[in-house]
Amino acid sequence: MTHVVAVINTKGGVGKTTTVMEMGLTLHQMGESVLVRDADPQGNSWDWAKDAKESQHALPFTVEIANKKSLSMPTEQDWVIIDTPPSLVDTIQAAVDASEFVIVPMSPSDMDYRRTMETIRQLDKDASVLITKARFKTIQLAQVVADLDDQKIGRFDTIIPLRESVNRSAGTNIVPTDSNYQAAAQELVEGLR
Ligand SMILES: Nc1ncnc2c1ncn2[C@@H]1O[C@H](COP(=O)(O)OP(=O)(O)O)[C@@H](O)[C@H]1O
Ligand SMILES: [Mg+2]
Repeated sequence: MTHVVAVINTKGGVGKTTTVMEMGLTLHQMGESVLVRDADPQGNSWDWAKDAKESQHALPFTVEIANKKSLSMPTEQDWVIIDTPPSLVDTIQAAVDASEFVIVPMSPSDMDYRRTMETIRQLDKDASVLITKARFKTIQLAQVVADLDDQKIGRFDTIIPLRESVNRSAGTNIVPTDSNYQAAAQELVEGLR
């Protein structure tokens, strides 16, 4: 059976594409087969794959451009991970509809928090927030964690730190060891088992 996971947030720049690609790479390292479907017309996942290939760091899985229809097409892989645009509600909804589970990356800022709450309230699917781009030991991060837990919003225990290594891993097949994406992927696998 294929696990289909959509990565959504109506805020841009929160780490959706990074999460799609690093989770995909980590799942592959765990021995799972992966397909990434890029439903964002900006094609950032697609570009990532192209850049990786051109720099001799080709990805070990396919990234295909997807549209509302093709998002729900059955496939052979163990995992389909869907990258989504920040706007285009129809496309985001189609990605959610095609999925078993939704990851909502969010960086720890008030603006992201508010937008993420709106995104989550409109969701009709199992979802977890993944805190990304976090500065550890800051009041900001502690506050966001406390607010999510107060509101009983499901979240990954794993928190993805703000790291130059992660920023630089864009367009490569490298999962920085200090990114925590390995632990996040482990949580995903255990959650859907
Ligand atoms: N954990 C991180 N640490 C540092 N930079 C990050 C991290 N996650 C993402 N970025 C950078 O932030 C920018 C936006 O990330 P991206 O994944 O493209 O977000 P989205 O797809 O939500 O627009 C990119 O330049 C990316 O390299
Ligand atoms: Mg993106």
